[in-house]
Amino acid sequence: MREFAKAVKITDKVYWVGAIDWSIKDFHGYSTDRGTTYNAYLVLADKITLIDTVKAPFREELMSRIKSVIDPGKIDIIVSNHAEMDHSGSLRQVVAEVKPEKVFASAMGVKTLNAHFDLDFEITPVKTGDGISLGNMELTFVETKMLHWPDSMFTYLKEEKILFSQDAFGMHLATDRLFEDENEPDIIHWEALKYFANILLPYCPQITRLVESLPDLNLDIRMIAPDHGPIWRKDPMVPVKKYTEWAKQKPNKKVIIIYDTMWQSTALMARTVADGVMESGAEPHVIHMGSKDRSFAATMMLDAGGLIVGSPTLNNNIFPTMADVLTYLKGLRPKNLIGGAFGSYGWGGEAVRQLNEYLEDMSVELVSEGVKVKYVPGNEDLQQCRELGKNVGEKLIELIGKK
Ligand code: FEO
Repeated sequence: MREFAKAVKITDKVYWVGAIDWSIKDFHGYSTDRGTTYNAYLVLADKITLIDTVKAPFREELMSRIKSVIDPGKIDIIVSNHAEMDHSGSLRQVVAEVKPEKVFASAMGVKTLNAHFDLDFEITPVKTGDGISLGNMELTFVETKMLHWPDSMFTYLKEEKILFSQDAFGMHLATDRLFEDENEPDIIHWEALKYFANILLPYCPQITRLVESLPDLNLDIRMIAPDHGPIWRKDPMVPVKKYTEWAKQKPNKKVIIIYDTMWQSTALMARTVADGVMESGAEPHVIHMGSKDRSFAATMMLDAGGLIVGSPTLNNNIFPTMADVLTYLKGLRPKNLIGGAFGSYGWGGEAVRQLNEYLEDMSVELVSEGVKVKYVPGNEDLQQCRELGKNVGEKLIELIGKK
């Protein structure tokens, strides 16, 4: 077996044995400009336990890290908190190498893992409130259905007060600084927000219910150890508070203007719509899809109150980059947005109608029918664009004032 960097001790009895993926740039459509980590944790209890594994290509790295602490054959228990392949892709082979006494997952986890892999071992299902003894330590399980898969669950290690939270409270950030407080706060905030906006946004009601139920579980939490990115230890409840806030999708004065352009007419319209938003006292953020990606747009949308979209008409359709970003944003099921559409055209001019349909499907309240401009905007057209931005901004400020 090739040797990689060693495990990192995070408490007296717990080691990080995961892998850092410095080069991944696209995680099933989510742009991971800063790479990611696949975290796995080794608990040195009487019954030695591995919590989660890693994506298949990183298995050797995981095993090498485990080996830097103990003989992997001494692992008694493996817990799979989440069946998605970035955490379970190496499970089958790890089990074959380690030969643990038991493997645990949620009931949905058992089904999902069996559906993905040709497993030749039994997995024991557990549910919320179930606990297992590791001899001198104890694990408790909490199912977190749809956060973000039906199988997802947390595992709590009572003696070390660590909540192993799989994807929840994580972020895509490749770093060897294993704790959140060792990293730049602005990067931590942005990447945690980006993760929430791109992965968890459709499940805000479930998040709210989970966070509200946490006190009933009486978990004394010293650290939250997710499956991606750094571990929260300075104030471990910070991500819980952030999730509580973000799940409300409370609009603020921010209006995002997402557009693409062929010959700069729609670009000029976008800038003018932004001028109108500024006049209203709201805050415009212009996002050009020729230079930004869909994950950035989703992150910017999280705390926005306004969404205005613009596209030229190309072959009787909206521009492909706009179809991409709107399909993605629609799937995230955002709430509490008002907005409108604009676009230039040569002869057909279907884009604005199609943009409006996307917005309606996203339950965005439209302030007008939108602005359509033939070929190149003149002064009157630009005035309409300014009014569109101003109307969205003014209505947003009025709505925020009423809340
Ligand atoms: Fe990190 Fe849902 O997998």
